[in-house]
Amino acid sequence: MYRNFVFDLDGTLTDSGRGILTSVRCALEKMGKPVPPVETLRRFIGPPLTGSFRAFCGMTEAEAAEGLRLFRERYVPVGWRENRVYPGIRPLLRELKNRGCRVYVATGKSAESAERVLRYFGLYPYLDGIAAPSPKELEADKGRLLKSLCPDTRDTVMIGDTFGDVQAALDTGADSIAVQYGYGAWTEEQLSRATRTADTVEELSRILLGQVPADRGVFISLEGLDGCGKTTQRDVIRTLMEDLGFETVLTREPGGCPISEEIRSLLLSVRHSEMTATAEALLYAASRAQHVHDVIAPALAQGRAVICDRFADSSLAYQGGGRELGVETIYQYNEAGVGRFWPDATVYFRIDHETSLKRRYSASAPDRMEQADAAFFTRTEQAFEQLAARFEDRYLVLDGKKSKEEVSEELRNRLPAFLSEKGLI
Ligand SMILES: Nc1ncnc2c1ncn2[C@@H]1O[C@H](COP(=O)(O)OP(=O)(O)OP(=O)(O)O)[C@@H](O)[C@H]1O
Ligand SMILES: [Mg+2]
Repeated sequence: MYRNFVFDLDGTLTDSGRGILTSVRCALEKMGKPVPPVETLRRFIGPPLTGSFRAFCGMTEAEAAEGLRLFRERYVPVGWRENRVYPGIRPLLRELKNRGCRVYVATGKSAESAERVLRYFGLYPYLDGIAAPSPKELEADKGRLLKSLCPDTRDTVMIGDTFGDVQAALDTGADSIAVQYGYGAWTEEQLSRATRTADTVEELSRILLGQVPADRGVFISLEGLDGCGKTTQRDVIRTLMEDLGFETVLTREPGGCPISEEIRSLLLSVRHSEMTATAEALLYAASRAQHVHDVIAPALAQGRAVICDRFADSSLAYQGGGRELGVETIYQYNEAGVGRFWPDATVYFRIDHETSLKRRYSASAPDRMEQADAAFFTRTEQAFEQLAARFEDRYLVLDGKKSKEEVSEELRNRLPAFLSEKGLI
């Protein structure tokens, strides 16, 4: 078993290709240059960009410099975030830390941009150090970086997706693992010089740990008044969780599985206007019990991120507050079915009931729940606000009155940090 684990970043921990390629494409379009086919574009990932602009797009030196400027125009504000943690990497790093190993990153990126990526994607807490080239260096000397992290390279392994990573290990006496899921174009000869090779993150985990550690699931509920934007934003949240390295399950309440969907149609049917508030609250709780059993609990056990459009807090607010059954009563109705599956995080899109009304009536004809009176929605709004204060630890409160784009941007800015700070990812 090794003691020191030094990982390359791009192509080893994260798949940074999307942001790089979109930004290259954008620069070429702005310059009115033809965009090469994707096989050629992929070769932009890794080597210095000006060289690639000249080699693959026939640019002059001055044009390549302009290409780089336009690339940065997009990459610096947004492109760096269009990155994805390879699934399986997060539990691998977590398990290495649990075993008391030392975990490092040695990267060709600047220290500043590497740290920004690692912090944003919540990998930073698993690291003991980062080594990056100084601003003056044109190209990273990975061997030197490796030595700076581990002066004594016994019990040290360098893991990377390009031959430069293997070379760094050869230069310093460390072992190396060549991973082939990244961007490296390996020759047989180069691969034969690595201590081991791994085609997938799973294989890498087996080599390093002797096992494939399961990820820890995360349960996220989306809450707020009708029309607050839950359904509009859930794909943004899904993409964010996938970028953090999770497999995702998108579901909704009431419903989410066959039995619960049948209960949903009972609840929302305008034919049932005589349904009592208690019958309604118990039906919601029954539907939820089945949903937790059939969908939520199994997905969390498999380490997935479950994103649920409304959950128990909606019952607490609508039936407890709106229908005036009392939050504590509704809590008791739900306890048996929810058990230990209260959400880890609740994204609350805050809007007032007037905004809710305006948005709903411009969207579709009202269902039975939506026909309730204005006082009902005022009480529901107040109940949500009380829940946000009471469960502030799991509530991420967003201003749902902002434009759709602004709300999406706020999610991208705040959700990963929120989950990381709470130790949920
Ligand atoms: N930030 C926003 N600004 C303006 N309109 C929005 C915003 N977000 C969503 N909408 C619009 O409001 C309506 C309701 O949005 P959406 O369906 O996402 O809300 P919801 O929270 O899922 O509502 P419900 O609880 O009824 O399912 C839609 O017409 C949507 O286009
Ligand atoms: Mg909705």
